Amino acid sequence: MSEKQPHTDLAALRREYGDRGLDQPDLAPDPVAMFQGWLDDTVESGLHEPNAMVVSTVSADDRPSARMVLLKGLDERGFVFYTNYDSRKGREIAANPFVALLFPWHDLQRQVRVQGTAEKVSVEESEAYFAARPRGSQLGAWASPQSREVASRAELDELYGQVEQRFPDETPVPLPPTWGGYRVVPEEVEFWQGRKGRLHDRLLYRRTRDGWTTTRLAP
Ligand SMILES: Cc1cc2nc3c(=O)[nH]c(=O)nc-3n(C[C@H](O)[C@H](O)[C@H](O)COP(=O)(O)O)c2cc1C
Repeated sequence: MSEKQPHTDLAALRREYGDRGLDQPDLAPDPVAMFQGWLDDTVESGLHEPNAMVVSTVSADDRPSARMVLLKGLDERGFVFYTNYDSRKGREIAANPFVALLFPWHDLQRQVRVQGTAEKVSVEESEAYFAARPRGSQLGAWASPQSREVASRAELDELYGQVEQRFPDETPVPLPPTWGGYRVVPEEVEFWQGRKGRLHDRLLYRRTRDGWTTTRLAP
């Protein structure tokens, strides 16, 4: 393997952000409608994995951890992703349902931050989504003890092979008992738009008993 040089001086990596502003009159009455508009812009921009988001959870001993997942559902109730309920994130959510989401839309000079609580979606909802996944992903969900240590790649391939034998040919693959969706019900949603001179726009929705309030935060 050829020796790779490390990339450039990180302190000098800097981009000026644009003129596209965000002000309170631009805000939709609720953050999910606002988010849908920004998600549409992101999809239309051609960004790779526009629905990728970072999910942060906190362990029982107060250690945060973060990982990327894909947003697979959105409605007035909240933000849905699918995973293994026995994974690290699943176990952490079971003990502490408070989570944070981050949508890193760098190319649009935008980010959206969500804080809320995660709850399992209904089994019917998980079944409907699982049934729509490619067969390879369905088998992978059965085969992978997500977040557990495995001895080798060969062990994983072996687990996959066992699942292929269990559901041969075109046998429908049912929803694994430890797999399904979480809906993150938002309490706070912040829309961040990059501006000139680092004077970015940050507008924050907070849930109240009868709707949403919005405020501006300093960048
Ligand atoms: C772009 C991208 C999308 C991903 N989407 C998912 C997903 O939708 N669900 C999931 O369980 N893991 C997804 N992963 C893998 C997770 O980042 C993570 O490795 C896995 O869920 C185990 O996390 P945990 O051990 O903290 O529970 C994705 C990774 C990347 C890079």
